[in-house]
Amino acid sequence: MSRKHIIIGNWKMYKNMEETQTFINQFSKLIKGKDIKCDYGIAASFTNLPVLKLNQVNKLIMVAQNCHYEPEGAFTGEVAIKMLKDINVSHVVIGHSERRMYFNETNETINKKLHALFNANLIPVLCCGESDSEYEAKKTNDVIKKQISLALTGIKSQHVTKLVIAYEPIWAIGTGKTASAAEAQTVCKMIRDYIAELYDKNIAQKVRIQYGGSVKPENIKSFLEQSDIDGALVGGASLQAKSFLGLLV
Ligand code: PGA
Repeated sequence: MSRKHIIIGNWKMYKNMEETQTFINQFSKLIKGKDIKCDYGIAASFTNLPVLKLNQVNKLIMVAQNCHYEPEGAFTGEVAIKMLKDINVSHVVIGHSERRMYFNETNETINKKLHALFNANLIPVLCCGESDSEYEAKKTNDVIKKQISLALTGIKSQHVTKLVIAYEPIWAIGTGKTASAAEAQTVCKMIRDYIAELYDKNIAQKVRIQYGGSVKPENIKSFLEQSDIDGALVGGASLQAKSFLGLLV
C-alpha cells in the first residue's frame, strides 16, 4: 500500500515574525517550478502561524505545536482549537517529548486532545518515543505501546485512518544521534502492527508514521526508503529554507 509521505518541520520556540517572513521569501523562491511529491508543513509558534497564513506558500500545511482540549474557558496561556482553525491550521503536534518532559503533558491529556481534534476535523501528529535509559533497557516497545494505547483510548477507527504518528526516540532529538534506518523501520513496523492489533490491518495500513530525531537532507532518504516510514518530523534542519526544501524528497 502506498502512503503519501508527509514531512513536517518543527520550529519549536524559534524565529520571530521577521525571521519567519525571511524564511517564506526564500522558500517561495526556491520551491518555484519544483515538482514536490510529498505533503509538507511547518509547525510554527502561535505568533508565527498568522505570518504563514498571510503569505500562503503553495500547499504548505499549517501545523500548530499544541492545543487545549476544551473548546474555550479559563485556561490562561492556552490556545483553543477554534482559534487555530481561524488561521487555517489543519494539523497539530500532540505529545512531543519536550511537552511531556517540561509541561506535564500526560498520556491522559494527550488522549483528550486527540478526541477534541478529531471532533473538530483536525489531524493530530501524535508523538511517541522512548528515553535513552528505556532504550538501553530494551523497553522501547513497551513504552511506545503504552503511549499509543492510552492516546488512542476511545478513538474511532475512521479517525485513526487519518492519524499521523511521529516516532521520535528522545535520545535522537537535537543530539545529532539518529536511530539507524533499520532500527527506525523496526519500531515503525511495530507501531503499525500494534495499530492493527488495536483496530485492524486495513486501518493500520492507512496510518502515516513518521520518524523524527536529527533528520537532515543528507540522511532523510535512508529513512523514507523503509516500508513503514512515511515521512519525518524535523526540528533543526527545518529552520533554513534551503535545508527544509532539501527534506522534501
Ligand atoms: P531534531 O528535532 O530534528 O532537531 O532532532 C526533532 C523534533 O524534536 O521533532
